[in-house]
Amino acid sequence: MGMIMNGRELADELQLEMIEEVKKMPVKPGLVVMIVGENSASQTYVKNKERAAEKIGINSKIERLPESVTEKELLDLISKYNEDNAYHGILVQLPLPAHIDEEKVLLAIDAKKDVDGFHPLNIGKMMSGDADLIPCTPYGIMMLLKKYNVPLAGKNAVVVGRSNIVGKPMAHLLLQEDATVTITHSKTTDLQEVTKRADVLVVAIGKGHFINSSHVKEGAVVIDVGMNRSPEGKLIGDVDFDDVIEKVSLITPVPKGVGPMTITMLMRQTIDNAKK
Ligand code: GUN
Repeated sequence: MGMIMNGRELADELQLEMIEEVKKMPVKPGLVVMIVGENSASQTYVKNKERAAEKIGINSKIERLPESVTEKELLDLISKYNEDNAYHGILVQLPLPAHIDEEKVLLAIDAKKDVDGFHPLNIGKMMSGDADLIPCTPYGIMMLLKKYNVPLAGKNAVVVGRSNIVGKPMAHLLLQEDATVTITHSKTTDLQEVTKRADVLVVAIGKGHFINSSHVKEGAVVIDVGMNRSPEGKLIGDVDFDDVIEKVSLITPVPKGVGPMTITMLMRQTIDNAKK
């Protein structure tokens, strides 16, 4: 029977430390979050970020922009906050509408304020082993693995999904800890054969219950990044939790697994930036 890696509990523990830390700071850390349009998942993520910031004592500002906002208007707003010393972190919620060039937007954010770790400069630093600001979901997962003393050096780590937000940076952070890393994706042949070799399996493919017991090795550590709706409207992960729980040694649940850690690491990087 696998043990649960409680992301909610670790997030609460880290956030309590941050509350005390922020109280002692001469300047209040500031975070601006920009959201374009009405994507309901994005709205929820942004609300959760706002709530966490308030709890910790971070000054957060949400810039809600209509779907019709032009690329230039968004870029101008980013420039404004790049220059505003009250804000130490800038985050543009993704995805953006099709008429806005995401790459251009991420490049426009001052790399020093890029608390999401999506700027090409920060990606490059992370890949060369000189990480500064790093994507918050993989960062949160590394904290969870550390908390639960999961050994990584020499282990087989398999990442399912190759997004810029999770899969690719995750693979690099695991590599940095001397794991032997394989990245798999929707076009991988015989996925099962690869995932069954994983000592640590990170799943971020965005398909509800995509991974089941036939994909996992006995005793594996499974990290589920998925946030999907079942046909009944229930929040479910990319991993069929009930099917794999007997086989794994450790697993993150959905909800209360990776999600709270992502937000916590965003707050961590905002505070660190304010201190710099
Ligand atoms: N969309 C989904 N996850 C994220 C995230 O971590 N940051 C941003 N900016 N957008 C996202």
